[in-house]
Amino acid sequence: MKPTRVPFLDLTRQDRELREELCGAFNSFLRRGRHILGPEVESLEAELAAFCGVEHGVGVASGTDALILTLRALGIGEGDEVILPAFTAPPTAVAVTLSGAVPVFADVDPHTLTLDPASVEERITHRTRCLLPVHLYGRPADMAALGRLARQHGLHLVEDCAQSHGAALDGRITGSFGTAGCFSFYPTKNLGAYGDGGMVVTSSGELAQELRCLRDYGRVDRDLLGKVGTNSRLDELQAALLRIKLRRLPEWNRRRRELARIYLDALSDLPLGLPECREGEEHVYHIFAVTSERRDELRRHLELEGVETVVHYPLPVHLQPPFRSRPGPPCPVAEEASRRVLSLPLYPHLTTEEQETVIEAVRSFFGAS
Ligand SMILES: Cc1ncc(COP(=O)(O)O)c(C=O)c1O
Repeated sequence: MKPTRVPFLDLTRQDRELREELCGAFNSFLRRGRHILGPEVESLEAELAAFCGVEHGVGVASGTDALILTLRALGIGEGDEVILPAFTAPPTAVAVTLSGAVPVFADVDPHTLTLDPASVEERITHRTRCLLPVHLYGRPADMAALGRLARQHGLHLVEDCAQSHGAALDGRITGSFGTAGCFSFYPTKNLGAYGDGGMVVTSSGELAQELRCLRDYGRVDRDLLGKVGTNSRLDELQAALLRIKLRRLPEWNRRRRELARIYLDALSDLPLGLPECREGEEHVYHIFAVTSERRDELRRHLELEGVETVVHYPLPVHLQPPFRSRPGPPCPVAEEASRRVLSLPLYPHLTTEEQETVIEAVRSFFGAS
């Protein structure tokens, strides 16, 4: 039967699929009586690190904290510059600012909407300490070119993996290219918790140790402070529930790619920009965004047809009020993207009928059958 409304995302469906396992994990958690930084967190840290092909994982309270604490642990702060894309979720820039460093916004590539290495190169100064690419929407950024720039200029490369759990480039998982990969477990992510959570993955034992200290007030052991850190710990219940979902992640990402393929085939003859992948890119379609010069009209049409959409992101970060007075060259591609992008419903539990409804509604807007 044709659905009358297609929600952008309905998380209750995944919870129904996992209900028994989740309840089992909750009961074990109640029996154990360990609440914060216990064996579930340690297991999740080891499992996500192994999944990414690196040695260490450090659980923290959010993706934003994963970024802030990584920059702090690398000694990046006041007087330093961090180059990030102008087109990303606002927390990437918030994290840089809260670390004490200056965010320097670079433009994005018009095809991938991820950090443009040429724009990055123009912005490197003697103050630059770190490049911070974002694997936006679940698509890997150009890590080969960015890695080259980082090496040439002696910079750290920190990956914002908040939207890219499991995405890969030439067989290598995002989070394993740079000094560190920073994940968010915000509930809507491809790997989402039942509240907030995050993790840093890294192959540096030294960085992992520093992060473990910073996330726990700066303690080096129970009763001794080594420095002033913060409270950014991951709790046992979230870790136990996330471990169940991590086991499903490859299958869910496969389903996301299948749904994306269906959209790509069904919409390819329309005047729309589509997220087609290049050879070697394994997109995980956290978000399936199309681009159109008539974005707002298309969105209104879809709403009337009962299809819920979202705009990620209507304002590029360099034009957000806290950042717009900052001097810097323009980022025209990011600005154009923010006027054109529109995210269609895509998640593993979207039904075939719902996807058909979305496709019909998009096609009818362009007068195509
Ligand atoms: C690209 C990006 N970076 C960072 C974050 C911050 O993650 P969190 O909401 O877990 O702090 C998000 C999540 O919204 C994000 O999408």
